[in-house]
Amino acid sequence: MTDLPAVPEHIGFIMDGNGRWASSRGLPRSFGHEAGAKSFENTVGSCRKLGIRYATFYAFSTENRSRPKEEIEALMSLFDRYAEDIFRRIKTDERKTYENVRIRFIGDKSYFSEKRRKAIADIENLNADKEIRLTVCIALNYGGRNEIVNAVNAFVAENPGQKLTENDISARLYAPDVPPPDLIIRTAGEMRLSNFLLWQAAYAEFYSTPVFWPDFSEKDLREAIESFSMRTRKFGGISK
Ligand code: FPP
Repeated sequence: MTDLPAVPEHIGFIMDGNGRWASSRGLPRSFGHEAGAKSFENTVGSCRKLGIRYATFYAFSTENRSRPKEEIEALMSLFDRYAEDIFRRIKTDERKTYENVRIRFIGDKSYFSEKRRKAIADIENLNADKEIRLTVCIALNYGGRNEIVNAVNAFVAENPGQKLTENDISARLYAPDVPPPDLIIRTAGEMRLSNFLLWQAAYAEFYSTPVFWPDFSEKDLREAIESFSMRTRKFGGISK
C-alpha cells in the first residue's frame, strides 16, 4: 500500500492559503476556496491510498464567522454543492476516493439550517454498512475551546458538584472514539494551531509547508509523513 517508513494513524489538516492562492492569480478569494475543495478531495484520496486511518480537515472555524458575509456565503454554498454532488461523484470517480471511507462532521451543527443538517446526516451515513478503511472528519463551524467548554458543561450537567478528570472531557468531545492526531499539517507557511483540535493536539507533531492549500499534493503529503517518521515522540517521557 505504501513505501513510507511509518505512517501516522491520524493526520489533521489546517487548509490555509486559499485566499493567497487566488490573489496571486488575480482571482477572487472564492475561487481559492473552490480550488481548496478539490484539493481536499484529492487529499482524502491520497490519505486512503497511503493507509492513513483518520484524517481531520479544518474547513470552517467558529472564528471564520467574522469574515465578510459574502465570503461566508461562498464557503457555505461551496459546501452545499459538495454535499449535493458527492453521491454522483462517488459513482463516477475512477480513483475510488470514497470507497470504504466514512465522513463525519465535528463542530457546532446548531448554526446550520435544517436542510444543511440533513445533508450532513446523509453524508455521515455514507458507507454505514461497509468496512471502514479511512475516517474523515470535517471540522465545520468548529472551535477547539468551544468543544472543551461544551464537554465540561455536559459533564457538570450530568454530575453536579463532582470533580472532572481528563477522561471525562475526552469522552465528551465531538468525536470521542477518534484517536488524537499524530501529525498536524498546516499549509501556507503558518505555524499556528488557530483553535484546531486544542485538546486532542497535546502530543501531535506539527508540520508546516509553504505550499498554499489548493496546490497541496500527494507529494507534499508524503514529505510531511517522511518528516514525521524521523521525529522521536516522547509523550513527556525520555528518548529510548
Ligand atoms: C483558509 O484559507 C481556508 C478556509 C477558511 C476555508 C477552507 C475550506 C476549504 C478548503 C474548502 C473545503 C471544502 C469542503 C467541501 C470540505 P484562507 O482563506 O484563510 O487563505 P488566506 O490566509 O490566504 O487568506
